[in-house]
Amino acid sequence: MNHSGQFPKTRLRRLRQNSRLRNLIRETRLDTGRLVLPLFIRHGANAKIPVQSMPGHAQISVDHLEAEIKEITGLGIKSVLLFGIPAMKDSLGQDSYSDQGIIQSAIRMIKKIDPTLLVISDVCLCEYTDHGHCGVVEGRDHSHEVDVDNDKTLTLLAKQAVSHAQAGADVIAPSANMDGMVHAIREALDVAGFQHVPILSYSAKYASSMYGPFRHAAEGAPKFGDRRTYQMDSGNAKEAVRECALDIAEGADMLMVKPAHTYLDVVYQVKQTYPALPLAAYHTSGEFAMIKAAAEKGWIDERKSVFEILTAIQRAGADFVITYYAKEVAGWLREDR
Ligand code: PBG
Ligand code: ZN
Repeated sequence: MNHSGQFPKTRLRRLRQNSRLRNLIRETRLDTGRLVLPLFIRHGANAKIPVQSMPGHAQISVDHLEAEIKEITGLGIKSVLLFGIPAMKDSLGQDSYSDQGIIQSAIRMIKKIDPTLLVISDVCLCEYTDHGHCGVVEGRDHSHEVDVDNDKTLTLLAKQAVSHAQAGADVIAPSANMDGMVHAIREALDVAGFQHVPILSYSAKYASSMYGPFRHAAEGAPKFGDRRTYQMDSGNAKEAVRECALDIAEGADMLMVKPAHTYLDVVYQVKQTYPALPLAAYHTSGEFAMIKAAAEKGWIDERKSVFEILTAIQRAGADFVITYYAKEVAGWLREDR
């Protein structure tokens, strides 16, 4: 009680008066150890092809990995997420589960360069199929919706996951959004002797316009139709919790929400519902590109915006963030020390 007989007003400004105090009590802090950098590995040799819509990112061939990995680890980044651009695409995406496939070669090379770098491999078919969909597609149904053969796709995804594990992947990250995907992959990994390899499932993956730049980078845009028959509807949040429940029941070790910045409520709900499972959030290519473009125009402060947005993603509940800003943030955090 204060002298006027009222409860004293909480004086939060007492806690904001200098930077040491603000740092001491900060609830959410960025940390390079919680960032994952996506990489695009393409077929061929001596290739480094910049991605127009993703400044600072390029498709690189396997022989460029050494320089790339040295730079990444030099910055203190501890994990990467791999996407492959194969020489040949076909209706079944055969390069994706070939021993000599682009990703299998890249994983073996990275493990030779630095065995301690955590390699997460994206498991999907869209970069490998000639039609660009994430599964086996017969065509469209009578209402012209894309008709993915769920169960045929599962067989291929399971083969792909096992071949990534054989090449040395540390974590398998299936992103195809097929029903029963985590179960099929878990079973195949176990049978092949990879019981120790965890699955990071893209559990709540929305059909989103935020993937535009990525589809140029990974050359995985669908040639017809869209992904709305297998990715989530952006109007739904409770359904994301249901997707996570199914993935957990099927054996997922870690969950993911994607996109991250535009779906913070989903990140929050998933973390509140399943606090004990590690949760990843994917700060997608479109979310990256929006900041880049505005910063290039001088309309926002890039560094401050990136810190604020990535902090928001973690504050909402993400334990780690997959982001194309990993290198910049790692550098900025070093400067700040
Ligand atoms: C492939 C995949 C996509 C992304 C990650 N894995 C594209 C898609 O589903 O269309 C998007 C990543 C990004 O936009 O940064 N299944
Ligand atoms: Zn896909």
